Amino acid sequence: MKINPNFTLLPESYLFSTVAARLRDFKASNPDAEVIRMDIGDVTLPIPDAAVKAMHAAVDDMAAKSTFHGYGPEQGYEFLRDAIAANDYRALGIDISPDEIFISDGAKSDLGNLGDIYSDSCIVAIPDPGYPVYADANVMGGRGGTERDGRWSRLVYLDCLPENGFNPLPPDAHADVIFLCSPANPTGAALTKAQLRQWIDYALSHDAIIIFDSAYCAYVASTDTVRSIYELEGARRCAIEVRSFSKTAGFTGLRCGYTVVPRDIEGVDADGSRRPLRKLWLRRQTTKFNGASYIIQRGAAALYTPEGKAQVAANVDYYMKNAARIRTAMAKAGFETTGGVDSPYIWAKSPLFSDSWALFDHFLSDLHISCTPGSGFGTEGEGYIRLTAFNTHELTATAMDRVLANAKG
Ligand code: MLT
Repeated sequence: MKINPNFTLLPESYLFSTVAARLRDFKASNPDAEVIRMDIGDVTLPIPDAAVKAMHAAVDDMAAKSTFHGYGPEQGYEFLRDAIAANDYRALGIDISPDEIFISDGAKSDLGNLGDIYSDSCIVAIPDPGYPVYADANVMGGRGGTERDGRWSRLVYLDCLPENGFNPLPPDAHADVIFLCSPANPTGAALTKAQLRQWIDYALSHDAIIIFDSAYCAYVASTDTVRSIYELEGARRCAIEVRSFSKTAGFTGLRCGYTVVPRDIEGVDADGSRRPLRKLWLRRQTTKFNGASYIIQRGAAALYTPEGKAQVAANVDYYMKNAARIRTAMAKAGFETTGGVDSPYIWAKSPLFSDSWALFDHFLSDLHISCTPGSGFGTEGEGYIRLTAFNTHELTATAMDRVLANAKG
């Protein structure tokens, strides 16, 4: 059998797998080094107690004949979709109904899988630097073209630069599908309402869709940005919002998220007829996905109880204290930094290193801190590293002491 030729175009390894391999090699040759993990955005606090209790009860449900659950609804259980619609949308005055919400096993899967419902011929725009899934998944789907100097010929790149506050504005070029992430991975920048307005106007006038990666919305602190793209008029007609319980409630290992596909959003078929994307996504999910597990969905629903909400807020607050510490220490040590205000990520550049992997090696070998090299997120990430605020207070403080001591030394 012939393989999908697009795989031969891709770099051999996914960014975070490469970082993990470098870290394993370093630890193997330096077994006594106490490396502090600030690379992949994996959390360290345990699951909020409200979710833990709900999942224990759900395990008991599975153990009794009268409450056992087999295959669940592919779109997700109503109890969770109702809780999301009420708390993440209606509470903000946003009109999203439970049947527009699709529960998933995490944002990463959906960001890649959405490619099943748009054509291979679509022109896709992605932020640079950006979450590597956007480019890699579209290359797998045959939308990349050819690669040259780290850029794909058929992708439209939205440069996130210091000059634009790392928030790209709509390009002159046409795109059919636009990936936006706000607060952004990796830079931590959040698009303002006025900037998002321009994106929605662009999408509506180009008959394009925005895939809005909102995995970090719980970290929004600024008032001039949004928690949901549907806060803005017109977004129901052009935006799909993708969210996750990973970074807010520690579900990185449990796997649960959701995607909103409003009834009003449409695409065009080969005959030029307009078709609702919600129906296509439902068709895709019912065919290829059997739903997230009942136990995990019970855990996710408990995050919307008063106790669950308070525990999630406490986790976010805990990580944001780390973010503030990292920002301050890195700036004091002479790094140019951004992020860490609306986001658990700090994006940093050193005046002494122009190469991200060299800076990564310096952090790992000399400071015993693992980070993510910015160039792994795109060519405009060259020279930067990304640090996450997801470690403990103690280890974050130790890591920043090492950075400051190195700067003085
Ligand atoms: C990251 O570190 O960018 C994220 O944790 C990766 C992910 O969520 O898949």
